[in-house]
Order: sequence, then structure tokens, then C-alpha cells
Amino acid sequence: MAGIMIRNIRLINPESHTDEYVDILISKGEITAVDLHSKSTIREIQADMVINGRGLIAAPGLVDVHVHFRDPGFTHKEDIHTGATAAAAGGFTSVVMMGNTDPAPDNDKALTDVLKRAGNENIRIYSVGTVTKGLKGEELTDASSLKAAGAVGLSDDGKPVLNEALIKEAFVKAKEEGIPVSLHEEDPDFIEDNGINKGYASKKIGIGGSDRSAEIFMVKRDLKLALETGARVVIQHISTKEAVELVRKYKALGADVHAEATPHHFTLTEEAVLKYGSLAKMNPPLRTEEDRMAIIEGLKDGTIDMIATDHAPHTKEEKGMPITEAPSGIIGLETSLALGITSLVDKGFLTMSQLIERMSTTPAAVYNLSAGSIKMGSPADIVIFDPEDEWIVSGFASKSDNSPFINWRLKGKVRYTICNGEIVYRNED
Ligand code: DOR
Ligand code: ZN
Repeated sequence: MAGIMIRNIRLINPESHTDEYVDILISKGEITAVDLHSKSTIREIQADMVINGRGLIAAPGLVDVHVHFRDPGFTHKEDIHTGATAAAAGGFTSVVMMGNTDPAPDNDKALTDVLKRAGNENIRIYSVGTVTKGLKGEELTDASSLKAAGAVGLSDDGKPVLNEALIKEAFVKAKEEGIPVSLHEEDPDFIEDNGINKGYASKKIGIGGSDRSAEIFMVKRDLKLALETGARVVIQHISTKEAVELVRKYKALGADVHAEATPHHFTLTEEAVLKYGSLAKMNPPLRTEEDRMAIIEGLKDGTIDMIATDHAPHTKEEKGMPITEAPSGIIGLETSLALGITSLVDKGFLTMSQLIERMSTTPAAVYNLSAGSIKMGSPADIVIFDPEDEWIVSGFASKSDNSPFINWRLKGKVRYTICNGEIVYRNED
């Protein structure tokens, strides 16, 4: 295709503080012109496809730095292709896969294999390498060869790294390589049953649950080490108000620390477990309204600088097991933008530009990905969405459908996802 023109669309590009009506021209995969609509010199004849931007927003393609595509090892839940399809449907043009696969990307050969297959998809798929061999928390991987093979960061997500000396050494190595270390912060010593908050929810169900101290304890340890070593550290899927406050404090002290919030942690509380059962079971668990509001405050002031889905597919059979046995996690790619609009923008907590910044610009910057901005001459990675359109959640491109948001009415619908100048998803209904 020679080119795509997007005519008279509201462009939100947080990096350049842009929020204005423009015409955009895409050709040969790149953004070749962005003109103010009122002064545009772009002509429809220059493109063989014209998208009418009336009522729509164009923003940099979304970036999700926390997805589980289960490939290799658990492809009955998801695989790289279905994961990529779900990502495109959610407006994502870049994703970072976590390493709790079998085998894990704990050496350059295993990592090269997944990245090679990921390269066949039409969105940009990156991967972390694991911090420890086999995610066992015992022996460090070789950060340098993983980086050379393409790892954009290190993470044992799904598991905490309990050994303090080991994680400190990982921070030092990762800093040398210029990549972040991303952490799943849950100390099992505080957990009787994972995935369900110790408190109201665990009492109602009659189980021990997962105490908030599991997170607070580890976040405290690791932020201190981040400051000491100067490493770039990401607190993944933050869930407690105390952890948010700790990140705020260490950012103020100058540590290179960052945090993710998931759409479920800023939308739901532990009460969801009573309503949706195992579909609201995740690690770390949904917590209290006070925690949810602290997460929103953190997103507002930038303490939490990234929204990431923790897209964690599991089958119906797996999720159908008794709640203490069912695996933790929910899918998230196809509902993330709409939950951001519905729970954050519509409620007046974030501006649309702040939402895009947390869903694209900053995650790209933290992981050094070339994404997160719309500018002339850069690859055309763009999400186009209708911020007003309301829809009922049902039917997913993902191989799994473990979502508590099924049948929810959400606002904000992805119309086109464009990656590298190619339309990789469209929904013109
Ligand atoms: O709930 C979760 N599920 N949290 C994680 O950190 C891992 C994920 C998974 O892999 O299923
Ligand atoms: Zn995790």
C-alpha cells in the first residue's frame, strides 16, 4: 500500500505535549507528515486509504511491558501469535513478554528462539531474560549475553527473588548492561493462600489469604538496593498503598525506580473475589478501596508511571478449580485502554494525555524501546480509538477468556491499530 491518510483527527502525543486536530500521512511504514488540520497541505490523493478521524483520537501505539504469552510450554493458554493478535486488538503495538515459560529465557539460545518466532508477528514483541536460572532464585543468569541476545530487561515475574545478595548483584549487572530489573514483590512467608487479600475477602471465604506485608516488605528491601546501586528497578503490578508511598519516597531520593499498576488493581477491590471467584484471583491480590485510591493517586502524580496489564491467560478448566487451587491471573490486553478511560479519565483522575503517557510514552522510555511517540520520520505505530463509544465486553482474540470484566459496559473502543505503517487491527462497527 502506498500510504494512509488520517484526516482531521485529535492527536494526543504526550512527549511533545500535543493535543490538537491534525492530518497525518503515513507512507512506507513511516509518518511522513503531521499537519495542523486547519493548515494542512496533505491531500487525499497522496494516499490510497483515508481514515476519517472525526470523533476519534490518534495516539502513539500502546506499549505493554508486562504480558504472558505462555510460549513455549503453556501454549494451551496462549501462544505468541494469539497473544500478538490480542495485543493488536487492544491497541498495543509493542509488548514485553515475561519469562515464566518452559523453558524460561534464561540463556541466549532460549531467548533467541522466542524472539525469532516473535519476529514473525506484525506488532513489536520484546522479551525479558530471567534474573535467575529457571526462575529458581538461586543462580544468576548472564545479563550480558541475554542483553546481547535482545533482552530488554530482566525479570523473574511470577516469582520473587528472595535472596538479597543475589538480587543486589543482579541490579549491579543490569546497570552495567543498561537494562531495568523488574520485580514481582511477594514474600511467601506472609502468604497462606496466594491471590486473595488477607482481610475481608479471605475471612469471607474462610481461608488465610495473602497479607499486604508480603509486598511491603520486599518493596522496602529492593528500593533501598536500587538507591544504593543506581540500578533501574521496576516494581511490577503494585497493590498496596504502603508500596506506592515507598516508591514516591525513593523517587524523591533520586532512585531510578518505576512502578506499574494494572487495570484490575485500579478498577477492582478484594470484594470482586466474592463476586467473580477465581476470575478475580491474581498475584498480587486485589486489595482494599484505600489501596485502589492510593494507586490512582500514584498514577496521578506520576509515582506510578506505567500501566501494564499482566495479561495472564489461563484455561476455563484451570480457572474452574476450587479457588485455593485455581491459578492466579487474568487476561488484560483487550480491555486495558477502555478500563483506563472508564476508571481513570471518565472519573476525572487522569487526563487523556496522562493516560496515554502511562500506557505508551513512559513504558517505552523505561525499557528503552523505540516507541511511545508520534513524530515525523519515525515508524508509524499508532492507535486510533473512539473515546466515547461504549461497548459490552465479550469475545476475545486471546486464546483464553479469564476476565472478570466480561459483560461490563466500558467506554473507549479501539478502531485501528497501525504498526510499522500497516493496519494490524480494525473495527469499524
Ligand atoms: O496473577 C499472576 N499471574 N501474577 C503473576 O505475576 C504471574 C501471572 C501468571 O503468569 O499467570
Ligand atoms: Zn507478576
